[in-house]
Amino acid sequence: MTLPVLDTLSRPLRDVRISVTDKCNFRCPYCMPADIYGEDYQFAPKADVLSYEEIERLVRVFVRAGVEKVRLTGGEPLVRRDLTTLIRRLAAIEGIEDLTLTTNGWFLAGMAQALRDAGLRRITVSLDSLDDAVFGRMNGRGYGTRQVLDGIEAALAAGLAPLKINCVVKRGENEDAIVELARYFRPKGVIVRYIEYMDVGTRNRWRREDVVSSREVVERIDAVFPLEPAQPNYRGEVAERYRYKDGAGEIGVISSITQPFCGDCSRARLSTDGQLITCLFAGKGTSLRDPMRAGASDAELLELAGAIWGRRTDRYSEERESLQRLRSPKVEMYYIGG
Ligand code: GTP
Ligand code: 5AD
Ligand code: SF4
Ligand code: SF4
Repeated sequence: MTLPVLDTLSRPLRDVRISVTDKCNFRCPYCMPADIYGEDYQFAPKADVLSYEEIERLVRVFVRAGVEKVRLTGGEPLVRRDLTTLIRRLAAIEGIEDLTLTTNGWFLAGMAQALRDAGLRRITVSLDSLDDAVFGRMNGRGYGTRQVLDGIEAALAAGLAPLKINCVVKRGENEDAIVELARYFRPKGVIVRYIEYMDVGTRNRWRREDVVSSREVVERIDAVFPLEPAQPNYRGEVAERYRYKDGAGEIGVISSITQPFCGDCSRARLSTDGQLITCLFAGKGTSLRDPMRAGASDAELLELAGAIWGRRTDRYSEERESLQRLRSPKVEMYYIGG
């Protein structure tokens, strides 16, 4: 195998997103609707879930295949016990230039310093509104914002920077959050990123008319706080950046629906149970856990991961309209990591 591995569209494997648990304490309707994910919903059994040793081993293999960036996600990563142990192990791997985590922030206040001490450098917190009623609907649990805002302050105090906020914008639910979040986070040097509501998985009853375009987001903010486009930080960046003209930082928009960005997509996902998945909208992955548990060597795992990536043809967001694949099987987002 020649390195770095390239897929069929010449895209390298640079970025891996790891779902460390499929469990979550929230029930955001766009991800884990509460009526489907009830109290007796069966998440992955413990024996199926990758151990920290197994995750570390696979990450070392991915780094040999070209990965430089690792993001821990879920589900909600902070509900997995002793997560700092995993972070310490990953932070020690040479070749990882960026180690970060996406969280809903609920357990962050008590953990931010420990995460930083374990070697996490930055963090992204999901927050869809500053209004308790709207936020309560969007987390599906009726939870208010206070605890998440405290978590964000703790993360800032611990030096997790740059801190980013993910806001999924949904028509008729949280349009007011667009300007509110910009106003609140501008003076704090926090980067808010607005995400177009996506048709991930098959259970969120996605409808095209519920999508608020990034263009509308930018127009709404620009009308209050004038914006100008900024250059991408790196090739294949998911978010399109805009700077405040008055110099007070930046925002980002993620336009998977209206302006797909598959062309430079260098992201692989590792599911809770160890499947390597080459697209957020894939129907299935290939298990790395099974060969690993059956005794495969690192060289064999590298060969396998390289072969999976080498066959990759995914460009779902670009094909969304033409292929009409909307009803085909798709994995759920909390299982493969957003
Ligand atoms: P930075 O490293 O800070 O630039 O973050 P990122 O670009 O990795 O973005 P992040 O992980 O915060 O992703 C934000 C959101 O963008 C995710 O939660 C998804 O909703 C969406 N997203 C990320 N990667 C992809 C992707 O490959 N395809 C699609 N369609 N959406 C993605
Ligand atoms: N569309 C867009 N973003 C989503 N997320 C989860 N489900 C969706 C969806 N259907 C976002 C969450 C979180 C990140 C992990 O993914 O809000 O910020
Ligand atoms: Fe949990 Fe994140 Fe899914 Fe919301 S989007 S239910 S916080 S995993
Ligand atoms: Fe990458 Fe698939 Fe998202 Fe396109 S739709 S950017 S190929 S993960």
